[in-house]
Amino acid sequence: MTEEAPTSPRRNFYGRIKGKTLRASQKSYLEEDLGPLTLHGVTRDENPSRALVPLEPWRAQRPLWLEVGFGGGEHLIHQAAQNPSVALLGAEPFVNGIAMLLGKVRAQNVTNLRLHPGDVRDLFEVLPEGSLTKVFLNYPDPWPKARHHRRRFVTQEYLIPLARLCAPGAEFRVASDIPDYIRQAREEIPLAGFTLTADTDAPWEDWFSTRYEQKALREDRTPHYLTWRR
Ligand SMILES: C[S@@+](CC[C@H](N)C(=O)[O-])C[C@H]1O[C@@H](n2cnc3c(N)ncnc32)[C@H](O)[C@@H]1O
Repeated sequence: MTEEAPTSPRRNFYGRIKGKTLRASQKSYLEEDLGPLTLHGVTRDENPSRALVPLEPWRAQRPLWLEVGFGGGEHLIHQAAQNPSVALLGAEPFVNGIAMLLGKVRAQNVTNLRLHPGDVRDLFEVLPEGSLTKVFLNYPDPWPKARHHRRRFVTQEYLIPLARLCAPGAEFRVASDIPDYIRQAREEIPLAGFTLTADTDAPWEDWFSTRYEQKALREDRTPHYLTWRR
């Protein structure tokens, strides 16, 4: 495993894929643990025909949840540890974040988690329709400049494929500290077939505050939490 991106981005929807130099321990997590924890058959190289990816036997018929852009993985590992009867997928192209999550997986020894170390849109192409029952989008990249707003996750380009993967009644959670992002989410997400069920400054009961949220709080930005039903 090198520090290069495991898959190549198609369009600049995310920022960095590599940050600070990895520690020796993080390099070993990537070398030893990323392969076994990766959901195989997702990349275009592995699956050029974009056939549906086999989820069994790992999924073991469990409900399937997805976290988009898990960052350092603190929320994803929390959900995995709290919900052993669920199978969780996480997508994240940022190599340092992936290495951080792998360290946490080692420490907590969870087995109900698989990763796609790349763009979540790769997953959208190869997961079965209606297969997801919960989706987390925590602190998506804000893309503050107006001319970049179309790169935000809360646009139809991303929401329509996501909605197709969501089972009827699936929950879609969005956390953000950027008022204009919340505005766009309120406008765009219903157009993709989701209904707003909660819109609040109070986090979910099973929430685990992420690194990005901690930074927002230190910088006096107010977290906001939206819940949608498919
Ligand atoms: C602002 S960070 C938030 C990270 C984390 N969710 C948190 O709350 O700390 C946004 C994350 O989304 C990831 N991301 C952006 N575009 C993505 C994509 N197309 N697929 C998967 N992850 C993506 C970025 O690499 C980054 O780690």
